[in-house]
Amino acid sequence: MQVHADLTQRVVAFADEAEWSATPADGVERRTLDRDDGEAARSTSIDRFLSAGRLDRHRHGLGEEFLVLKGTFSDESGEYPAGTYVRNPPGSVHQPGREEGCALFVKLGQFHPDDSERVVVDTRDAEWFPGLVKGLAVLPLHRFGSELVSLVRWAPGTVFPKHQHPGGEEILVLEGALEDEHDRYPTGAWLRNPPGSRHMPFSLDGCLIYVKTGHLPAVRV
Ligand SMILES: [Fe+2]
Ligand SMILES: [Fe+2]
Repeated sequence: MQVHADLTQRVVAFADEAEWSATPADGVERRTLDRDDGEAARSTSIDRFLSAGRLDRHRHGLGEEFLVLKGTFSDESGEYPAGTYVRNPPGSVHQPGREEGCALFVKLGQFHPDDSERVVVDTRDAEWFPGLVKGLAVLPLHRFGSELVSLVRWAPGTVFPKHQHPGGEEILVLEGALEDEHDRYPTGAWLRNPPGSRHMPFSLDGCLIYVKTGHLPAVRV
């Protein structure tokens, strides 16, 4: 299946337009944001779990990254309540479980092959740093090569200068609404800005976003 698989294209997916589809796993529904079943299989999705239970034990070829949006996810290594960010590196294996109502933002098969660090961050109990402009607070989650992953909180009225994304940018709006000269992105919106794109983002009402930059193929290190 190919969904928004051309990484040179800008994509915006709004939560209220997205269709949830059934998956082969019982009680698991998925909102697919991008997917490429080609040679390097990769996908980005929001998965929600209608029932508690275990998933099949599985291996992560090119890694698995997730942010728990609701409820508690778990595996042999621990429990991951809402707000937990996890990276399971290439080659890792686990058998997860979840409670009813749990939801995750998940990126599969997108690690650099040498990015072997396992990461678990409780974003509800982590240190935030001032951002590049007044009104921004940043919680760094991971860095490898040119790839940078963070949560960023925007105070109401914050404006960021116009900038270019040499290695692309991907954003999931977790709370509030982000805007730029192209559109308004309310809670649940996901956008992928391709390498070389530009914009001037701002937030009138304030927001919290997951943001990843420098990971799209043009500048893959
Ligand atoms: Fe997994
Ligand atoms: Fe940007």
